[in-house]
Amino acid sequence: MKKYSVNQSSKMLERAKAVIPRGIFGHYGFSVREGNPNFFSRASGSRFWDIDGNEYVDMMCAYGPMILGYNHPKVDEAAHKQYERGNTVSLAGSVMVELAEKLVDTVVGMDWALFGKNGGDATTLSAMIARSATGRDKILKIDDGYHGVTAWMQDSRPGTIEADRESVISVPWNDLGAVETAIQENPDQIACFISSPYDHPVFRDNEMPSADYWPSIERICREHGIVLILDDVRAGFRISLSGSHEHFGFKPDLICFGKAIANGYPISALMGTEEMKREAQKVFYTGTQFFNASPMAAAKATIEVLLESDAANLMTDIGNKMNAALGSVAESNGFKLVTSGIPAMPYYRIDEVSTQTHFAWVDECVQRGLYLLGHHNHFVSTAHSSADIERACEIADVAFRAIVENGQISLKTA
Ligand SMILES: Cc1ncc(COP(=O)(O)O)c(C=O)c1O
Repeated sequence: MKKYSVNQSSKMLERAKAVIPRGIFGHYGFSVREGNPNFFSRASGSRFWDIDGNEYVDMMCAYGPMILGYNHPKVDEAAHKQYERGNTVSLAGSVMVELAEKLVDTVVGMDWALFGKNGGDATTLSAMIARSATGRDKILKIDDGYHGVTAWMQDSRPGTIEADRESVISVPWNDLGAVETAIQENPDQIACFISSPYDHPVFRDNEMPSADYWPSIERICREHGIVLILDDVRAGFRISLSGSHEHFGFKPDLICFGKAIANGYPISALMGTEEMKREAQKVFYTGTQFFNASPMAAAKATIEVLLESDAANLMTDIGNKMNAALGSVAESNGFKLVTSGIPAMPYYRIDEVSTQTHFAWVDECVQRGLYLLGHHNHFVSTAHSSADIERACEIADVAFRAIVENGQISLKTA
């Protein structure tokens, strides 16, 4: 199995660098590596093709949005029909109301929805509503918790200032004691607690909540008048279509959705309880493109297809099969592939070897047609099939043999 040639991608990256800072920017920039593809030419189902014509089994699903497979006919049809009727018009489309109704019917405990474009719109708005509701400034989050690129959420990176982070307190994941201490040290100052349903940092195994974590967080938030925000932007609809809180047994006040909500069409949503509605009505947050009707039609169709196909369970099943199959391939080559996170969003790590070795294996996979990332969790869609699992295993097997033959094995240092 020969490695792919990516000459066209490399040339296009050089062109990009002349007119776009870094060439490929933001989180897509992290996957730019020697020998790997940079630009796609088309996508369909569970696969994409790069501009050199190479085909990939896509285990990143565009970092999550692709949940039903690229170019899903029902979603595309709904989006195109709405586009023909009107997309960005001087009035909102009635499809906005239909989508909000669909979300309220689907997501347990939520009574309303507001819409934005990116996950960060939903998380930013959620914090504003929490601050308005409580009259408090501070945001309590998890150490590695990622909620978008708004300044309050960034580490000390260029372009941000200390004041952006002044009101943000962060605590380790799964540490209820740290949450209690933060509240004691900041009495009546914490507006909200925001977290993903489980911990999915980069470069580290993903970690599920301990059995009592979420019910305890809910109790603590209620005791101290803190708004409980579930950031379901990444995991939303891949654990439960009713919302990840249903799976983990707690009741948030606000839930942020993004990524998979419209199978790739640009829309995100913030949902909330009746009690939060009064504050949501007061807070001003908007954008020129927030009322685009076509992504709303796509989101409605996506949710309908997800519900019809019992998608969360289907993706869990496919993810479990993919993880077991790749695990066997690793074992037959003398390695142990550690899988963490939910089956529909697996994070992979080769046990006991260095990060460089793990990345070398990932590169060998990518350069033969299995699109993985070394530092980030992966995503399963309902379009992934047993043919994808088989193809992934063939490639992973060759990749394991390649890193041994190339002498790329180094052990993890303590
Ligand atoms: C948990 C979580 N919240 C918020 C965001 C921000 O979403 P977006 O990049 O669409 O603004 C992300 C993006 O990866 C995320 O994973």
